[in-house]
Amino acid sequence: MPITYTSLGFVNTGAMFVGAMRGGYAVPAYNFNNMEQLQAIVMACLDTQSPVILQVSKGARDYADRTLLTRMGQGAVEMMKRVAGERGVGEIPIALHLDHGDSVALCVSCIDTGFSSVMIDGSHLASADNVAVTQAVVACAHPRGVTVEGELGILAGVEDEVAAGEHTYTSPDEVEEFVERTGVDSLAISIGTSHGAYKFKAGQKPEIRLDILHEIERRIPGFPIVLHGSSSIPPDAVAAINRYGGRMKDSIGIPESQLREAARSSVCKINIDSDGRIVMTAKLREILALNPQEFDPRKYLGPAREALLAMYREKNHSVLGSAGRAPEIMREISDGCRL
Ligand code: G3H
Ligand code: 13P
Ligand code: ZN
Repeated sequence: MPITYTSLGFVNTGAMFVGAMRGGYAVPAYNFNNMEQLQAIVMACLDTQSPVILQVSKGARDYADRTLLTRMGQGAVEMMKRVAGERGVGEIPIALHLDHGDSVALCVSCIDTGFSSVMIDGSHLASADNVAVTQAVVACAHPRGVTVEGELGILAGVEDEVAAGEHTYTSPDEVEEFVERTGVDSLAISIGTSHGAYKFKAGQKPEIRLDILHEIERRIPGFPIVLHGSSSIPPDAVAAINRYGGRMKDSIGIPESQLREAARSSVCKINIDSDGRIVMTAKLREILALNPQEFDPRKYLGPAREALLAMYREKNHSVLGSAGRAPEIMREISDGCRL
């Protein structure tokens, strides 16, 4: 028996993107694989009254078990509602989103188990095949109120389940037809961001192609754009990793000033995973190096969770501009802004 996302307390990204487009900010899309990451993301977004998209990759589903991960998301919604009540603050909208879905079957499996949004990443396919697979996912998702993200252009960078060689920028000439033919609700584009911790070569100026973004905006005005690979790779956390026995060399991320500028445009969703991994690893290394006698996981995972919490709060406030935006989206949802 399929599970509906509404029964788990999630919302789709429809009202979120209406709010983000109107307000000139981006909704954070943070990846999680475990409880501490999930707690930090949801509590930081509640603290800052930000909408949030909880992102689950195929690798995360395999790592943490797909049933458990979805139910953790549901538990996080219930925790958020309880804490909001205790604090006398408003609840925040939470979407559960499949990151980089690579097949119709995976997207359908996520829709059947309570995801409110899915990405079908056909960006490595020939253009006609990308259109066809994206259309197939939209056909399964929309009747059930699930929003769909497609992708045009290839990002560089390598992660567990996301491997890309040479990148190609999204061609503005292709976006209008892709959006029209597929019926997607948002479009991920490639403008120089990339996955992982090494986004630019040493000595290279870290710069994304905001000119391409603005040309794409001109071609599909008011259409929600998504930026993947948008971690900023905080140098202090990288330094802490190296200080306490790790080895990360020449890691460079996307400057926060450029993400802020993108968030003010049609970019409605910004994906961040690596920054969380790095901040968590830095704190774990520090605690374990300075407290070699420690063996209670709560004593090192707890501080790592605190470091994540601070990082996500700061992103919402200073980079994405999503802080304080939850109430208007909640109103939009209760006024019936759905698919
Ligand atoms: O874009 C990819 C995300 O960072 C997820 O990475 O496939 O290693 O979970 P992952
Ligand atoms: P980062 O590796 O820059 O965090 O990107 C994450 C991402 O795009 C998830 O889809
Ligand atoms: Zn991505």
